[in-house]
Amino acid sequence: MTPLILILVSYLIGSLSFAVIVSKASGLADPRSYGSGNPGATNVLRSGNKKAAALTLLGDALKGWLAIALAQWLATRLGLGPEVVAWAAIAVTVGHMWPVFFSFKGGKGVATAAGILLALDWRLGLVTLLVWLVVAKGLKISSLAALLAALLAPVLAWIWLVSTAQFAAVVVISILLIWRHQKNIRDLLMGNEGQIGEQVGKE
Ligand code: G3P
Repeated sequence: MTPLILILVSYLIGSLSFAVIVSKASGLADPRSYGSGNPGATNVLRSGNKKAAALTLLGDALKGWLAIALAQWLATRLGLGPEVVAWAAIAVTVGHMWPVFFSFKGGKGVATAAGILLALDWRLGLVTLLVWLVVAKGLKISSLAALLAALLAPVLAWIWLVSTAQFAAVVVISILLIWRHQKNIRDLLMGNEGQIGEQVGKE
């Protein structure tokens, strides 16, 4: 029973869409109503409010980290296998992408995945984040940075993660993340993808 409750709790943690929560608290419009329509830090930044975007990034990353930290702690305490951590990773991602509290209209999972990877293995999180940062800073395209990081993460997970179940979870999360970027991929191929920080109406 405990693993099922943990998976449900992870899903509920993931369902806290910080883009929507922070925007509401900052008096901004719902990020699902402008720009890409994605409730994520990149789109909140299109409102021009950098602080709200940073808080969104932090909140979404922290919830990914928290779900894994909680699962790891419980697994150790109750003698559960590493599979429960893998399921928690998938559940928090699914919660972020299809949040029960926000009509199942969630984000693309980038910040949440970063938090998950950091909690699973700090090297995995750090190197994936660095790749995201280098591409994002160099090319100024958030989605391209996320897609490249998502392709790299399973390779690094294969090298560094001891648990096969947790490696499989990273693969599933990368597939979900890439799948949620379908429109971005189309726009990238057409050369229409906007740059980081372009404000609404200026894309
Ligand atoms: O973090 C999401 C990012 O990769 C793409 O966001 O708003 O440009 O679709 P957006």
